[in-house]
Amino acid sequence: MTRHTKAQSIQAIILAAGASSRFKTGRTKLVEKICGRSMVLYPTDIFVNLNIPTVMVVGFQKDILEEVVKEEFGNKVTFIHQQEQRGTGHAIQCTRDSWHADTILVINGDMPLVTQENIEKLIKKHHDNDATISFATAHHCDPEAMYGRVIQGDDSIKIIEAKDFEGDLSEQCCINAGIYLIKRSFLENYLDKLQPSAVTKEWYITDLINIASAHKLTVQTVAVPFDRIRGVNDFKELWAAEQIKKSEIIQHWMSNGVRFAVAHNVQIDWNVTIESGTSIGSGAQLLGNTKIGKDCAIEAFTCLKNAIIGNRTTVYANSVIEKSEIGADCFVGPFSFIHGNSTLNNNATIGSFVEVNRSEIGAFSKAKHLSYLGDTTVGQKVALGAGLVTCNYDGINKHKTIIKDNAFIGGNNTIVAPVVIDESAITAAGSTITENVPAHALAIGRARQINKEGYADKVRAKQTIKPLASAMTEALKTTYESQQ
Ligand code: UD1
Ligand code: CA
Repeated sequence: MTRHTKAQSIQAIILAAGASSRFKTGRTKLVEKICGRSMVLYPTDIFVNLNIPTVMVVGFQKDILEEVVKEEFGNKVTFIHQQEQRGTGHAIQCTRDSWHADTILVINGDMPLVTQENIEKLIKKHHDNDATISFATAHHCDPEAMYGRVIQGDDSIKIIEAKDFEGDLSEQCCINAGIYLIKRSFLENYLDKLQPSAVTKEWYITDLINIASAHKLTVQTVAVPFDRIRGVNDFKELWAAEQIKKSEIIQHWMSNGVRFAVAHNVQIDWNVTIESGTSIGSGAQLLGNTKIGKDCAIEAFTCLKNAIIGNRTTVYANSVIEKSEIGADCFVGPFSFIHGNSTLNNNATIGSFVEVNRSEIGAFSKAKHLSYLGDTTVGQKVALGAGLVTCNYDGINKHKTIIKDNAFIGGNNTIVAPVVIDESAITAAGSTITENVPAHALAIGRARQINKEGYADKVRAKQTIKPLASAMTEALKTTYESQQ
């Protein structure tokens, strides 16, 4: 008998066809996200990584599920349709035509915390003992938990589903994890012997253990920590699993030199990367493919989604950066909104209540207060005054603004695109710029101020209290007095 220690002698079957009825969303739970990734992708990743040919059994909302899996793994996973969801045993029956390896690994798709190490340990034990069936178990004493209970006698082992168990579940703390290694020859001979449960009318994969044991075939188990094999059947279990996944991710970055001020209220996706020396403030949301460089300060309640942040950059509190790249040594926020594939080059500053959309800001340029920059290219060392608005939209089309190196834009400017403000030009405060400004020119686009001597007194003399205004003043006075 050859020992099958190579990954190639195994194939994996991921069970993912179930109706997810306990989730009560009407959607398949397998695409529900845990730390930004559909839960079924976590176990799938392990088999793809081990080069184990993988089949996924799909049924309920199969198109949605297949799309999610294909997006990450291309054609590395093939799909088998289980038309009606008649239980995990029935799901295996549907895969019969795909069996080609000597050992079939079956795993529930709803266990996102399982590790490659857990799987490898089970494979090793199975092969070392030349077992017919091996499966993972865990210790969990909650009588309310609907896991199959592993009942071990002197010479027998069987799994009884919690729903079918008669007696006190609190005494039954050995549970079935939902990962099985089965000899193909055993499946070929015995799979048809499964009978539906009298209680649920479903075919259970777990009955294969009972059959193997009854025939005195070798059954092996491997104990795994419960936190690694938690099943996710409703939002409470999803929340619990997500806390574990999140704390693993955060601890990983902590051990790589990242400081989390309040780790438990940070949201972080599995694909985010953070370099050493960086600190993450309370309530930060680090999402998607965000990449944060070295020695950055990401302050409280920032939201970074698919953002790239260069080394030593500070993102002050309450800023949102989406799908944009911030260079090194930049300052952003507080309360900035940078989005739409925008770029900040090194040493740029985008200050409070500034929105940057589909724009590029050159090195050492600054827009520190209350501005909108849309479809704008800003050169280097440009000063953009408070209250600047680029009018990029004429109601039908978007137009570009170009502001070249060393330009100075006065406060409260309105720049009506398309327009080019050439290098070292200055625009006066309060200007509405509708025409190109040549290099080194001063543009003044506002009405000239006139001072009329003594006119203030004349204006006051003309001002009389109108009856309506006077009535309102009386009413306000009465209200004020009644509140005293
Ligand atoms: C299952 C096990 C239980 C184990 C637990 C571990 C059975 C009968 N019970 O229970 O012993 O303790 O997992 O988490 O296997 N699925 C299909 N087709 C179906 C039914 C289910 O593909 O017809 C898929 C589901 O999408 C899911 C997986 O199989 O990913 C497990 O099904 P689920 O209903 O979650 O089983 P549990 O009741 O959790
Ligand atoms: Ca389950």
